[in-house]
Amino acid sequence: MSESYLKDLPKIAGYKPCYQELEAGKSYFWCACGLSKNQPFCDGSHQGTGFQPVKYTAMEYEEVLLCACKRTADAPFCDGTHNNLQDEYDSDDPDSPENRAIPEAEAGDDGRAWLDGHCFVASVAKLARHEQGNLNWSAVITGEQGAKYQSLFLLELVTGHSPVVHFGQRDVILLLTAGQGTINISSHKFAIEPETGIYIRPGEQFRLHNTGSEKLVIFAAVCPMAEVPEFAEELSSNFDDEYTQRTIGIDPANRQVMADRFFQMLVDKTLGSKVVTQFIGEIPPTKAAPHRHLYEETLVILRGRGYMWTENKKARVNAGDVIFLPRKQLHSLECTDPGSMMLAGVIYPGDNPAINY
Ligand code: FES
Repeated sequence: MSESYLKDLPKIAGYKPCYQELEAGKSYFWCACGLSKNQPFCDGSHQGTGFQPVKYTAMEYEEVLLCACKRTADAPFCDGTHNNLQDEYDSDDPDSPENRAIPEAEAGDDGRAWLDGHCFVASVAKLARHEQGNLNWSAVITGEQGAKYQSLFLLELVTGHSPVVHFGQRDVILLLTAGQGTINISSHKFAIEPETGIYIRPGEQFRLHNTGSEKLVIFAAVCPMAEVPEFAEELSSNFDDEYTQRTIGIDPANRQVMADRFFQMLVDKTLGSKVVTQFIGEIPPTKAAPHRHLYEETLVILRGRGYMWTENKKARVNAGDVIFLPRKQLHSLECTDPGSMMLAGVIYPGDNPAINY
């Protein structure tokens, strides 16, 4: 590499960030030039290049992903930029001898196909249903299934109004997947349609109204985790006026490209949700290379089909299924649909679904 090249751009030390555990009170020097032999930290090789290491002091014990591509806009942390330095997202061959030896897990009596490390694929039609007034609900993901950070509930309203629903002092992010209607969040009413994300602030309550001919189907991600929804007769009036935008739909102008796939943020920081993030994305007919995340993730498959893979198992996924992905679990999602797979996810704690290691 010539010196003139280094003056403009650092060397790409890797296309994945480096997982590190940082000690409380300790300072670290992140390599910005990409030449260090001790990635992701500086070893002095930057001398004469014009680059300087970036100092970071950990205030508490932290698990972090430090940038290795040296193109991040959030140094020293990964911001997902590495995904766009290659034309294609890293992929894996589902027909390799190793992958062909991996057995397929079937859904058991609990409606879930269990993979490694508490990861599972749920066929939501097979889950136990509960009734509260006009509302049918199912617990899809809770602590009972191994979740530590977020829960997911399925809410279905065939007709009319639901009872008032709430989850205490938690962030609640809803996704409408079918039907037409309205939602009242305290005294404020919003129209909702399929593939709309809806944000309920901690302490707020909501009531659904089905105004169409089809069943209203909603997934409710609840953070931190709750075991059951709570119900009330009357809506409280404590709408958080600081955040007035509560619904967000698909807008092609807001798509973010990630190599040969794309995603769009729905409920995120711009709506006031700082550590819980909802996105919708489309993936092409490939199997992603196995990877991990530092956040816990729930995924609803909206269209298409494929397989969810972990180290030693795989499970079929179809439109309408839900995937639960624990933090740090090695996994890979494969789309086998000749078109693409469309999915919506909630990550917690996290604000960027493009970050993986
Ligand atoms: S060796 Fe890369 S910044 Fe010091």
